[in-house]
Amino acid sequence: MSTRKRLEIPRAFKPLLSPRRYKGAYGGRGSAKSHFFAGELIRRCRSTRLRCVCIREVQNSIRESVRQLLIDKIAAFGLSDFFSVLEQEIRGRNGSLIIFKGMQSFNSENIKSLEGYDIAWVEEAQNLSEPSLRLLRPTIRKAGSELWFSWNPRHETDAVDRFFRGGPQRADAALVAVNWHDNPWFPDVLRIEKESDYASDPEMADHVWGGNYEIVSEASYYARLIAEAERQGRIGDFPHDPARPVDTAWDIGIDDYTAIWFLQDDGVQVTAIDYHETSGQGAEEIVREALPELQPEPRLVAPALSCVGRERAFAYGEHYLPHDVKLREWGAAGRSRALTLMRLGVKPIRVGAQQGPAERINAGRALLPLMRFNRTKRVMLGLSRLRRYSRRQSATLGGFAGPLHDVNSHGADAFGEYAVNCPLIAPKVPAPRERPRLQGGVYLEGPPVEGSGRRMVT
Ligand SMILES: Nc1ncnc2c1ncn2[C@@H]1O[C@H](COP(=O)(O)OP(=O)(O)O)[C@@H](O)[C@H]1O
Ligand SMILES: [Mg+2]
Repeated sequence: MSTRKRLEIPRAFKPLLSPRRYKGAYGGRGSAKSHFFAGELIRRCRSTRLRCVCIREVQNSIRESVRQLLIDKIAAFGLSDFFSVLEQEIRGRNGSLIIFKGMQSFNSENIKSLEGYDIAWVEEAQNLSEPSLRLLRPTIRKAGSELWFSWNPRHETDAVDRFFRGGPQRADAALVAVNWHDNPWFPDVLRIEKESDYASDPEMADHVWGGNYEIVSEASYYARLIAEAERQGRIGDFPHDPARPVDTAWDIGIDDYTAIWFLQDDGVQVTAIDYHETSGQGAEEIVREALPELQPEPRLVAPALSCVGRERAFAYGEHYLPHDVKLREWGAAGRSRALTLMRLGVKPIRVGAQQGPAERINAGRALLPLMRFNRTKRVMLGLSRLRRYSRRQSATLGGFAGPLHDVNSHGADAFGEYAVNCPLIAPKVPAPRERPRLQGGVYLEGPPVEGSGRRMVT
């Protein structure tokens, strides 16, 4: 073993050497993040019998994994006689095992196969979705097990950034910010690329190489209007007004994000006083968490309110839901989503007419100049969803095509759902509507029937 090279570690990574449940290294390209974790993984598997899984959000083939990097590390450390490299895994003579997986291959059942693992390393973790992170964390549960994340930050709303950087530093986490200048081996090829990127597009280079969040592009629908709101001081301390009802606006995703805005309309402007976003939860959990005032047991209400940071209970007005709540079911009971929510106390419900994204965006643009946003962490998350809601680049036409469906579109759809129905801007949207009748707790604004203009849900 005299040929084995010493594993040298750049100083910036030293905080990641002591045991910690969560370890993260984030920063720009070429900062030695992948090499550091690859080296650590091989070193640890050499000294102790460990089971490790190298994870990406999506892995279409083993070539996309860090397998080759690990093979190079094994060779560089002179450990080729200790490890055997197989097509799908790497095994150590001491029984250590390293496998490579995409999160897309897991569901809540088969991920249990990872329960005996000691280390999960998530590479390119900016792509890790909230549901994947939620699935992974409780799975890696062996005593002393660790979860490692390496990533180049993209949006502050990405799951990994929210987890590590979204609040106070977690006591069970070690996190380092690294950059190319922390990498003593930063190669010339990368140096040249970096310099040309900074010369041609400094903002993009600042993201790719500087490790900063991506600047929202021209493709954003609302960024300009939100910047205007900011300049005009409409993003600030605008708390809940107990004298007025609180309306909610929803976008519901069963296997996706559910987003809810909490809004107060004073007849002149609309204030967003709260925002709730969640993924992978059922209707009951969502209502319990997001609208704790509706708890059937009054003694449970006060503690639940403090969970969402509400000083006092909201008195709800109307709940705006997208048109498909009448049709689509929620859970196995075979009930429509509208009915499911009503049984949980979410009523009266106002069900919007079937609207395309274009109507929602136009209405959203008409509403934004009348909006104020209460500067809380939750509302700021919703606002960053709106700011990042953007057009899809059209592959064939070179221009833009429709909105991008991504983590940002849910909060934006919920906002748009409110906007198309908001009485304050109703006169400005193309088809003027009459106010619907209320029956059985549900308003319906479906396609006009027999000249009545409205149809009721039963
Ligand atoms: N421990 C190391 N030994 C030798 N070269 C290294 C080492 N760490 C990084 N490098 C060099 O720096 C480059 C960038 O490192 P990498 O880990 O790929 O960065 P990142 O994952 O942060 O983008 C590598 O391609 C390699 O040339
Ligand atoms: Mg890398």
